[in-house]
Amino acid sequence: MNDLNENNEVNFISLFTTPLMEVQLDLDVEKLTELAFEIMNRDKRGKQISNIGGWQSDIILEENQEELKKLKKEITQHLQLYHSEAFRGMVFKENVTQNISEMWVNVNGKHHYNEWHIHPYSTLSGAYYIKHDGSSEQGNISFKHPAGTYKNIAHWPEGFVENLNEVTAEVVNITPKPNMLLIFPSWLEHKVEINLKDDTRISSSFNSRPILEKTKKMWQGNIWR
Ligand SMILES: [Fe+2]
Repeated sequence: MNDLNENNEVNFISLFTTPLMEVQLDLDVEKLTELAFEIMNRDKRGKQISNIGGWQSDIILEENQEELKKLKKEITQHLQLYHSEAFRGMVFKENVTQNISEMWVNVNGKHHYNEWHIHPYSTLSGAYYIKHDGSSEQGNISFKHPAGTYKNIAHWPEGFVENLNEVTAEVVNITPKPNMLLIFPSWLEHKVEINLKDDTRISSSFNSRPILEKTKKMWQGNIWR
């Protein structure tokens, strides 16, 4: 490689990147924990989606407790920030903003987890951690490389690599902590590892869809509302 001509400008272009936004908020997680249990006690049955064990609430966008309103506001502001950074260079037909379309609470006890899934019919998704002890034993969130099955065919040969990096890893794990907000593309496959601790883990998940600023129309799957 010594004969590489240094006068030639070399560019590395990251194609099809997967931006993951991570930010530490400063909301009152004690209060949010109380609210999560309050919502759970109102609807003990909850919903069964990707969760194995544990409790998942119905949509909580109508809830108007002060600390939840603050959380919705923070999420919305960070969705706009994600939008303006990650979708830079996109040309929209009219002004488009991001808007929370669904939001729910997850309460997971010992041995509960969520299987691999995506969030269909939305643009951005995310998770905010209300109660988590910050250890991987309480369950990481894992993200799968978007190349999926292709990667299983043409991966790095076994025995060659000690550690992969964010370009080559098949799975990237993030260990949550209280007040951590994550935002990622809704098509990105993810799962929540098993909670091995006796303590409850609580998070709130959400989806965002683009909204047309002028008409306030929101895309709902294959229809406009
Ligand atoms: Fe999810």
